[in-house]
Amino acid sequence: MVDTLRKVGIAGTGHYVPERIVPNKWFEDTLDTTDEWIFDRTGMRERRFAEKGQPCSDLCIKAGKKALDDAGMKPEELQLIIVATVTPDHLLPATIAFVQDGLGAINAGGWDVNNACTGWLSALMSAQGMIAAGIIDNAMVIGAEVLSSMMNFKDRGSAILFGDGAGATILKADHPRGQILCSSSGMDGRQWKAISRQAGGSKQPVTHEDLETGDHLMALHGNDVFKFAVAKFRDLIREQVATLGIGLDDIGLIVPHQVNLRIIQSALKKLDFDMDRIFVNLQKYSNTSAASIPIAFDEARAEGRVKEGELISFIAFGAGLGWGQAVIRW
Ligand SMILES: CC(C)(COP(=O)(O)OP(=O)(O)OC[C@H]1O[C@@H](n2cnc3c(N)ncnc32)[C@H](O)[C@@H]1OP(=O)(O)O)[C@@H](O)C(=O)NCCC(=O)NCCS
Repeated sequence: MVDTLRKVGIAGTGHYVPERIVPNKWFEDTLDTTDEWIFDRTGMRERRFAEKGQPCSDLCIKAGKKALDDAGMKPEELQLIIVATVTPDHLLPATIAFVQDGLGAINAGGWDVNNACTGWLSALMSAQGMIAAGIIDNAMVIGAEVLSSMMNFKDRGSAILFGDGAGATILKADHPRGQILCSSSGMDGRQWKAISRQAGGSKQPVTHEDLETGDHLMALHGNDVFKFAVAKFRDLIREQVATLGIGLDDIGLIVPHQVNLRIIQSALKKLDFDMDRIFVNLQKYSNTSAASIPIAFDEARAEGRVKEGELISFIAFGAGLGWGQAVIRW
């Protein structure tokens, strides 16, 4: 432990998406929907699906290796790995077990975080706190999902929205770049039914009946989430500006959870924030839940959208209903 809190920066990023591209048209064969409807209402054009039997840990390992390369680190240097996912390889043990082994991160401990679309930010905050306090010097934070394994392909209101992928981020003590300036999280558990997967846990172990009704798959009330997300998006940006004592113009780029282009546009309309300063890649990957921000951030860097010295805002919300935010300086 240290007496004063240390600064925590981002030393590396990487992402991986499965090769299989699933365009909107793919759903037209089985659902009462169209490519045009999906694109108009969401901005999504396609998503990636993992191969049958390709587990979440496989995506994590591939993204993690790229982040290690980017940071110039060897796997054995890692002290902590946190995997944020709602689609673990197994319910027991945690997916980190397979990731730690697959990466050869023999000196790392770790655990999984189950907080859906806010998961990567939740994991980031946990690692940030431990590094700042001097408990550890570095951590890999991964957001990864194989959502295709729990989607209800009979439900046009949800099946069209999601994709698979993984994004990894390496945090280091006193790293000068990407220092985390603020972060926070919140939850309104009264709204848990808005996004849920009800069968399969201790409250409702899966029965034959659940397999018929689809209760073992994801269910969502998209309309309720839409309204919540628009309002929460604005609240979180205002919180960032107030916490840091800055103006909206001081934010160089917002990398939001890739939920739905209309949600992002609606939120920004009232804020008077320019769409040019938002990074959006949901047209390619749809909503990858915990993976969405770390994938988007890595792509934003690769495309030169993350400029040295600028403030980068991360905003997420999802099942719970929960939310989180962080601002870094690149
Ligand atoms: C799901 C979502 C795309 C629906 O878009 P929307 O504009 O809100 O559409 P609505 O739910 O009001 O539905 C409008 C109509 O389209 C229909 N519809 C829903 N999905 C459809 C689809 N895939 N294709 C065609 N029609 C569809 C609805 O049944 C409804 O028909 P009705 O008017 O006859 O009842 C949008 O609400 C959304 O993105 N919500 C958030 C998603 C979410 O929760 N993500 C995970 C958490 S981060």
